[in-house]
Amino acid sequence: MKMIKLLSSSLHLFLLLSVFISDGVYTVCSSRNLLQAEKVPCPLNFQFMNYTIILSRCKGPSYPHQECCAAFKEFACPYKQYVNDLSTDCLTLMLSNIRLYGRYPVGLFGNTCLQGRQHVDCP
Ligand SMILES: *[C@@H]1O[C@H](CO)[C@@H](O)[C@H](O)[C@H]1NC(C)=O
Repeated sequence: MKMIKLLSSSLHLFLLLSVFISDGVYTVCSSRNLLQAEKVPCPLNFQFMNYTIILSRCKGPSYPHQECCAAFKEFACPYKQYVNDLSTDCLTLMLSNIRLYGRYPVGLFGNTCLQGRQHVDCP
């Protein structure tokens, strides 16, 4: 009986601690702006955009880097004000929608067409 009480109170302590710890981690991440959950929802609707520029120019199986990135920028640059604002989730949304529409490999654009992986370099 005593053992169970002890267990349950240390479980309590453990839960309290883990809330505290995960809260701490949360704060650390948020100050670096890493947590998606904290971002301002994108005011643009990337779900219903015309991705023809990219789909017609960036094709498998080789997905030529220069052509793909050029098409990607042509599509993205009109929205640079949004996609380059890292307080919003616009860039993430745009990347995942492009990937869905074109059935592109993971990271095709995000890993190779962005400066520092988070900035669309527009004229
Ligand atoms: C999508 O954009 C292409 C040119 O990039 C255009 O030819 C086509 O008509 C557009 N489609 C729609 C549905 O607006």
